[in-house]
Formats: sequence, C-alpha cells, structure tokens
Amino acid sequence: MADRTIDQLCEKLIAKREKAEQGGGEKAIAKQHEKGKLTARERINKILDPGSFVELDETVEHRCSNFGMEKTVFPGDGVVTGYGTVDGRIVYVFSQDFTVIGGSLGEAHANKICKVLELSTQNGAPCVGINDSGGARIQEAVDALSGYGKIFFRNVKASGVVPQLSVIAGPCAGGAVYSPALTDLIYMVDKVGIMHITGPQVIKAVTGEDVTSEQIGGAKAHNQKSGVAHFFASTEDECYDQVRKTLSFLPSNNLEDPPFKETGDDPKRADLELRSIVPPDPNKGYDVRDVIKKVVDNTDFFEVQGLHAQNIVTGFARVGGKVIGIIANQAKVMAGCLDIDASCKAARHIRLCDSFNVPIVTFVDVPGYLPGLTQEMGGIIKHGAKLLYAYSEATAPKITIVLRKAYGGSYLGMCSKDLGADVVLAWPQAEIAVMGAEGAANIIFRKEIDAAEDKAATRAAKIEEYREAFATPYPAAARGFVDRVILPEETRPALYEALVMTENKKELRPKRKHGVMPG
Ligand code: HXC
Repeated sequence: MADRTIDQLCEKLIAKREKAEQGGGEKAIAKQHEKGKLTARERINKILDPGSFVELDETVEHRCSNFGMEKTVFPGDGVVTGYGTVDGRIVYVFSQDFTVIGGSLGEAHANKICKVLELSTQNGAPCVGINDSGGARIQEAVDALSGYGKIFFRNVKASGVVPQLSVIAGPCAGGAVYSPALTDLIYMVDKVGIMHITGPQVIKAVTGEDVTSEQIGGAKAHNQKSGVAHFFASTEDECYDQVRKTLSFLPSNNLEDPPFKETGDDPKRADLELRSIVPPDPNKGYDVRDVIKKVVDNTDFFEVQGLHAQNIVTGFARVGGKVIGIIANQAKVMAGCLDIDASCKAARHIRLCDSFNVPIVTFVDVPGYLPGLTQEMGGIIKHGAKLLYAYSEATAPKITIVLRKAYGGSYLGMCSKDLGADVVLAWPQAEIAVMGAEGAANIIFRKEIDAAEDKAATRAAKIEEYREAFATPYPAAARGFVDRVILPEETRPALYEALVMTENKKELRPKRKHGVMPG
C-alpha cells in the first residue's frame, strides 16, 4: 500500500484510458478502415466541435461469463458515449464500436446508451446515435434483448422532447433497426450502412426470394423506395455534415425556439424572377425548389427525404434568419399529386417541425389525390388522413402560399385556412376550386355543350367562362380563406411579415392524453 504513489495510480488510469481508446485493438481498427469505415471515436470527432467531446463510462465492462466471455472484456464494452458541442450547443452522442465484439449490444453496452438518452432528455439537448453493430450480443441472450427494449422505451420517452438523430454507418439488423426507426431522422452512408429486419439468407430460407443486402437494406433502397431513411450520403464525411446542418435548424429541446442566425439576406428582398418560374398553364410542370430557393435566405434550402416520394418536397430553410420547415407540392413529379408516400412523408415532417416549434410553410400546387386501385387498397384513406391530422394537430405557426392549383380535398389537405393556417397567401394565378376548369365545365355545362352545334367551341368557351369566374384566388379571398393575394415577388417579404406576426403564437387545445393518429 505504501508504495502506491499518486503518480502510479495516475499511470494506471492513463493506461486504462489508452486501452479503452484502442477499442478492439490495432488489427481490428485496420480492418474497420479497410472496409472504408471510420472508427467510433473518429466519427464522434467528425460530428462534434473539435476538442469538445467528454467521454462517459469509458471503463464500463460487461459481466457476462457465458461461452468464455469473461476472457473477452474490453473497457467501454463496444460503444463510445458522452457529450460535446455542435456550433457551441450541447449534443449527446453514442457511437457503436464494431472493432469490439462486432459492436454487438449486451447489457452494459445498452446501459451506456440508455444513460446518454436519459441525460439528453433531462438536460434538454439532442442525442445523435451512430449505429454499427452485429446486433444483440448472442452470448448475453435475453440480457441483450432487454437492452434493446430499454433503449426503445427511452427513444419513445425522448420523442418530441429532444431531437434524436440516427446515423447508420454499418450493419443494423433485426430488432436493432427499431431504435433508429423510433428517432426523428435517419442518415445512411452508401455502401456502408445496411438496415433490415431479416437478411438475405433468412429471406431465401423463408420466402425463396433471392435478394442482396443492398437491395433490402442499402442506403439507396431506404432513401428512394422504403422511405425509412431521410438522408443519403455518399461518404461518412458528407453524412456528418448533414447531421451538423440538421442540428443548426433545430432547437435543443421542445421548450426552446429554433436557433435564429443572421444570414445577411434582406427579408424585404423582392425577386421579380419569381414571376417566370411557375407557368400559368396548370398543366405545365416546373421545379418547386426553384421557387423555394428564390424565397429563402441565400438560396439555402436543406432538403429532407429528397429521394423519396418526390412529388412532395420537404425540408428546412431560413427567412430573415428565422428557421422554417417547408412542405411543397412538386409539380414536375406526377404533377404534384398526393399519394400514400407523399402524405406519409409530409405528415411526418409536419410533426417533426411542430414538435420543435418550427413554423410550417406550405407551398401549394396540387391537382388532387392519385387515383387507382393500388392507392385505394394501399390505404390512401388512412395515409392521406395523416396529412390532415398532422396539419390540424400542429400548433406551430402555419403559413400557406398557394402558387397555382389547389383543387378539392387536396386544397383542404395542404394546410388550408380550415385546417388552422394562420396566414394564407395566394399568387394571382392561383386556382382554388373544387376541380380544374376543364373537368368542372364538362360537368356543369354538359347539357349546353351537348345541345350546341359547335360542341368544341362551346366547350372551350364554357371552360374559359368557368376559369374566369372560379379558377382564380378571388372567390376564396372574398370569403377570407385567403388572407392576401400577392405578387410573386412579394412572397419573401410577405412570408417574413407572417413569421414575425405569428412569432408569439400560443394555441391552447382541450386537455387529452394524446390523439389517435390515423393509420
Ligand atoms: C456476438 C458478434 C455479433 C453478435 C458479430 N459478432 N455479431 N458477437 N454477437 N451479434 C462478432 C463476430 O463473432 C466477430 O468476432 C466480430 O464480431 C466481427 O464480426 P465479423 O462477422 O467478423 O464481421 P463481418 O464479416 O463484417 O460481418 C458483420 C455481420 C456479422 C454481418 C454483422 O458479424 C453477422 O452476421 N453477425 C451476426 C448478426 C446477427 O444475427 N445478430 C443478431 C441479430 S438479431 P471475432 O471474435 O471473430 O472477431 C438482433 C435482435 C435484436 O439483433 C432484437 C431487438 C428487439
């Protein structure tokens, strides 16, 4: 005892730390790099501000002795956890270390993740999880399963309280996929991240299908088709930039407002080019992102789920430095109609924005719902209802800009006055009506058209008559469903004014446990 000097004790601690920082050791790290993957610590350092990381539980060890596991003990137990800052704001992180027993999750590993989730929720700061794991640690059996259950429970408790972001930078399979799925946004690195419930071998054995991991779980598959992921990154560096950028738009928790940032772009800037982007002919397409970029600060539009359900566009931007969440019908894809995927994508983004007090700005140019057996049997009724539900439920400021078409149920669905929009603006070419002029004229003037000698000329005249009377913003404006009809170049100033006007919005609803979301 006498010869235990403080220096010796410190040396011991330093040695322990060094061992923990080596993860699974040099060979395993080299293997990780050979696969084109960064290590758990390298990843954390890419996300957090340099030098800000504070590690917790670095010397935690598992206590499993099944199958000789007592001989396979690594300090930290295969996950690096702690906190640091992003742009100076506190962010909690966990990063699974594949070099340690394949990043597999046992009791101690799960407890570490639960600890940062608890800290993040209690202290009101976001949590970023980096997933790279072989899943439940097989040797730890039910303790590993319980670990997942505990994480799911905490993900749900934290949902809507603090932002939770999940990076998939390695395998993520079986029930393990449900922790990321319970968080707000999923980022996948191409050729590195894989997410699936059952892998190719199980699928072959059960259904006989031949599939590859990429097909069922790759970054492209989940960004384009399934819509499970929200961001596609070609490299890990790109992915961590996306994570940092996302955090720049979100408040640290649900009680704060999103972070204001001086952008140097005059909120009163009027852009005349906006007049030439949207063709007045309702049948012509254009890219709604061109409108968005002209309206927001410095053309900086950060798109979310840009590869999925491209008939609707979602994302974040700033106007006069104030953060906004954007939902916009995309006229150049399926004429911007609403279908199951678009409804789910938009509803989810609305709820994310509303949870974190981000004003919701909707650009409307929508012809209606996509008709067809596939849509009806796929449940467009319940999925379309999610959009109505999300807009109606949202109490964050809601500002709607009708660019062109706004027909029928889809007009109502795209945050109309009746769904609680605080401000509705419309461009002069807006057509707010039950349906397009051609369809409407063919129905209400059918007798006149049938009786006429020159049917084609009569039809054309009647369509024009209907268009003049109803395919305009003015009947809606006459009833106050539209607050202001504006020139396209007035959009940015008008949007900024609406954001300022609704800044202190407080909307109280009847007390309830929670609503029953359609679906
Ligand atoms: C224990 C594991 C492990 C696991 C990997 N390892 N997964 N150890 N439990 N789940 C170990 C390996 O034995 C190996 O140890 C080391 O990690 C690296 O793994 P490799 O196989 O060499 O790596 P690689 O070739 O890159 O393959 C990665 C892999 C593969 C595809 C993830 O390891 C794999 O298929 N693992 C099992 C996946 C799985 O079935 N997990 C259970 C899923 S069910 P050594 O000592 O050789 O270096 C699940 C349920 C969750 O997770 C339920 C929640 C409700």
